[in-house]
Amino acid sequence: MGFDVAAEAYDRYMGRYSLLLSPQLADLARVRGGQRVLDVGCGPGALTNELVARLGAAAVAAVDPSESFVAAARARNPGVEVLRASAERLPFPDRAFDATLAQLVVHFMTDPVVGLAEMARVTRPGGVVAACVWDHGGGQGPLSLFWDAARLLDPGVHDESRLAGAREGHMAELFEAARLREIEETAFSANLEHSSFDAWWEPFTHGVGPGGAYVADLDAERKAELREACRTMLPAGPFVIAARAWAARGIV
Ligand SMILES: C[S@@+](CC[C@H](N)C(=O)[O-])C[C@H]1O[C@@H](n2cnc3c(N)ncnc32)[C@H](O)[C@@H]1O
Repeated sequence: MGFDVAAEAYDRYMGRYSLLLSPQLADLARVRGGQRVLDVGCGPGALTNELVARLGAAAVAAVDPSESFVAAARARNPGVEVLRASAERLPFPDRAFDATLAQLVVHFMTDPVVGLAEMARVTRPGGVVAACVWDHGGGQGPLSLFWDAARLLDPGVHDESRLAGAREGHMAELFEAARLREIEETAFSANLEHSSFDAWWEPFTHGVGPGGAYVADLDAERKAELREACRTMLPAGPFVIAARAWAARGIV
């Protein structure tokens, strides 16, 4: 899937955007002092860091299946319990947390409903489960332009548009299927300036995530064609990618 990669490569590819979502997701989950919270699919720790800033390291736990990301999240957030695990099988007892959050993870779960139900299991009754996924389906994810270019050259490409939670309303449906209550769906915005086309493109060349994995599988000629297709769709100078994510919160 492209997540057994160096944390720094992830930071440049997706972490640069996910940082902008973390405060929005923590606000949606109403994370506040005195709570104990879990970050599911923490990656190198963008959301973990926000939770630590709000609650202190001792009140935060995190999990991720990627060994390199677990190591990075531990190093970057000393004092946080970071374990190697997937959402579908969380290594915590029932009712262990006040809130359980998953930022940009539901669409990668093997079974999103099982993963969300498991997040609910480890959350106390009355506690909150919250998650967000880019609007890949509505064409407003940070990678949408990349996938548009890839589709021009390869109409059958498996872009991320059909993944779970990546279209309006679907996250709420998944929450409902996981038996969460009082579900609210909302949209987050993340606008990021890139200094040049090269600064935007370079992070796609390190095999990170489905986009990076797709580039890594192309031969040199196809890679150059894809880069050129992207280049013609973007200005050379500084430009802003304006992205949207679908988010939901539910009560256990
Ligand atoms: C796009 S990254 C998001 C990382 C981090 N939450 C952030 O906002 O930057 C997706 C993460 O989900 C993790 N992941 C993939 N499948 C998962 C699963 N079934 N359960 C939990 N995490 C998973 C990956 O290892 C990766 O760290």
